[in-house]
Amino acid sequence: MTDKLIIFDTTLRDGEQSPGASMTRDEKLRIARQLERLKVDVIEAGFAASSNGDFECVKAIAEVVKDSTICSLARANDRDISRAAEALKPANSARLHLFLATSALHMEKKLRMTPDQVFEQAKLSVRFARNLMADIEFSPEDGYRSDPDFLCRVIEAVISEGATTINVPDTVGYAIPELYGNFIKNLRERIPNSDKAVWSVHCHNDLGMAVANSLAGVKIGGARQIECTINGLGERAGNCSLEEVVMAVKTRKDYFGLELGIDTQQILAASRLVSQTTGFVVQPNKAVVGANAFAHASGIHQDGVLKARDTYEIMRAEDVGWSANKIVLGKLSGRNAFKQRLQELGVAMESETDINNAFIKFKDLADRKSEIFDEDILALVSDESVTHSNEQYGFVSLSQHSETGERPHACVVFTVAGKEVKGQSDGNGPVDASLKAIETHVKSGAEMVLYSVNAISGSTESQGEVTVRLQNSGRVVNGVGSDPDIVVASAKAYLSALNKLQSKADRVAAQG
Ligand code: KIV
Ligand code: ZN
Repeated sequence: MTDKLIIFDTTLRDGEQSPGASMTRDEKLRIARQLERLKVDVIEAGFAASSNGDFECVKAIAEVVKDSTICSLARANDRDISRAAEALKPANSARLHLFLATSALHMEKKLRMTPDQVFEQAKLSVRFARNLMADIEFSPEDGYRSDPDFLCRVIEAVISEGATTINVPDTVGYAIPELYGNFIKNLRERIPNSDKAVWSVHCHNDLGMAVANSLAGVKIGGARQIECTINGLGERAGNCSLEEVVMAVKTRKDYFGLELGIDTQQILAASRLVSQTTGFVVQPNKAVVGANAFAHASGIHQDGVLKARDTYEIMRAEDVGWSANKIVLGKLSGRNAFKQRLQELGVAMESETDINNAFIKFKDLADRKSEIFDEDILALVSDESVTHSNEQYGFVSLSQHSETGERPHACVVFTVAGKEVKGQSDGNGPVDASLKAIETHVKSGAEMVLYSVNAISGSTESQGEVTVRLQNSGRVVNGVGSDPDIVVASAKAYLSALNKLQSKADRVAAQG
């Protein structure tokens, strides 16, 4: 029998909790399809009871994704559990993920419950959930900082009630690999029915050790599920990064001896999709998916790699999808070729009108840029004017004048609820002038907390991808825009962030 390691991806739930990373339903669906192509075993699609929007996202993903198990998070109460089970109804294979804090700090200060009350609630909630579904995961939140005696009591009880996976979160990223591994080993040895459940690790990266801790939980502790996110996306310093943990287990199979179901050639596409959707740029020296991860700059290394690859390379770039970075389409490509490439990239357009709109944008881009890469197409379809024509704000056109020694001036035409308006302003630079021109109408009062520009495919001919992070009344959102003209990309990113600020903020935080 093979010893399999289950990969549980929580990009769409824990990853999305990162301030500014919130995604629309269509964006989540697109990522979920890519996760399915990546062959992740479990996709945590959201937290259905936290908002109607999240409920709809979990349901839509359960309807569309058929090869992975679809999971929804739920607090350990009947209402949350029923709501999650309802959203998961269309799934081929579904899982409920219940969580309840067990550390003294969380029980006393956050839940204001006694340990006995938490024990009872954990037990009853799993009993309730088990009547609705067979696949039940239980997470004692802040588990790693919980009293081991109390944790043993709770875990033994929830396994008796039918929990099939026990996840031990290091919620605040406090663990050290050896200690975390032994913590899990100790729990498994002490709990009499521990062999009736799969053990899982869930590590946050506050001390930069989420991947190392997760691997120690597997190697020392005997866990057989890792919870992780694409690019390590997540609150604060993020979660355990899927690409790193997967490639560690695959590359060092000699040490871990575990089987994985992941199609690693889909890793880079997943990383790019998540980065382009959320506006969280991947650092160049990021392991596995960073632009420099397989670039050998030093002469000695280049020479070595040319003579024999494995002198300096422990993984093959192709194995994580790097060779997929090819020119796919050009000016002469027709609508059918474009449509087929969209399908290959997993982009589902809801109507022929959406495809036509996207194709017009593609032709427009191909007129200005001779080589169109997959990244260009993904950027183009994440442009809201293509896929979300009913948004409050939409970009129309921009003109600006800047000259050395003169104050730049911009004029931006955009739509507000479908009606065209024109804003004009001076600014410190053309980007500043353009965003101020938009604000002459919108008057959002939002504070800009981040502005970044990135070249999508690496050269000056490439499209500029701009991320704008805005903060207003406690909400933080990211807007992303792309265009060969970075001033236009900036205006699109700003309007996209304003659209996100507009959408309702009625969600319940998972660790709230
Ligand atoms: O970090 C955490 O504790 C969580 C739980 C909700 C599983 O994300
Ligand atoms: Zn978490």
